[in-house]
Amino acid sequence: MRNITLENITDAVTTSLGDDIPPRNREILVSALKHIHNFCKEVNLSYAEWLEAMEWLRRAGDISDDARNEFILISDIIGVEVLVDMLDQMPTHGETVTTVLGPFYRDNPPVLPKGASIVQKSFEGQETVRVRGRILDTDGVPVSGVIVDVWEDAPNGLYEQQDPDQPDYNLRGRFETDSDGQYEFVAIRPVPYPIPYDGAAGELLNYMGHHPWRPGHIHFLIQKPGYKTLVSQIYDGETEYLDNDSVFAVKEDLIGEMKPAGEGADTDLVMDFDFVIRSDAKLQIAAE
Ligand code: BEZ
Ligand code: FE
Repeated sequence: MRNITLENITDAVTTSLGDDIPPRNREILVSALKHIHNFCKEVNLSYAEWLEAMEWLRRAGDISDDARNEFILISDIIGVEVLVDMLDQMPTHGETVTTVLGPFYRDNPPVLPKGASIVQKSFEGQETVRVRGRILDTDGVPVSGVIVDVWEDAPNGLYEQQDPDQPDYNLRGRFETDSDGQYEFVAIRPVPYPIPYDGAAGELLNYMGHHPWRPGHIHFLIQKPGYKTLVSQIYDGETEYLDNDSVFAVKEDLIGEMKPAGEGADTDLVMDFDFVIRSDAKLQIAAE
């Protein structure tokens, strides 16, 4: 098109796409282009506003590296990671719902026996909690030999890799379910913490008039060959920010109850939480 106008600009771009691009590329691009063009028209975006956005994206790139992806954080605070996770990981047979992995997972955590503590350093005023439950398949049968990675922040609101004063791999562990599908470990009652807000994501939070806080939670990554991997979090039912999580990742079914452990117990609290995972065979049967 030689004479570009406000009326034909969107067609000019969408019809310029190469004939040989994969159909999925075309589907994604045509829809994204239409939405982006319509958005600019709808809000009558000024040149100065466009430039401000481009500079903001540049700052997001500048602060990103192998350990920090500011673009994922930005997608989190506008609810996009959790939306895509819900679209992609829709439970089909009553599995436990998923939620976001977050940026603080580390592979190869300490491999610990059932019931062991992930607490390598104590904090004043901390409350310890014994977390335990079963991993079941979608027919309610306990699954043994499931690898359960868990991680959480410390009572100062920091994950160990954010805090030089915590031991390496503090508050992380890898457990395996026993022959009854049981997992169990000792942790610290998780506290709310702010997501990193010293970069472009923090600027966006300000623009949105939002705080950076997440409710207290413990992360889980649950894996066994032949089963769909489950990435989820359990929330403390009494924590703040359950109703206004900065990354919109709370689901009612993931809220746990931390109860007093009782006389003679070696932790302050106890929380029981079962997970349901789906075998690959189940999906195969449903597809046939
Ligand atoms: C987290 O839960 O660790 C997390 C999730 C999304 C963004 C930042 C942190
Ligand atoms: Fe977290």
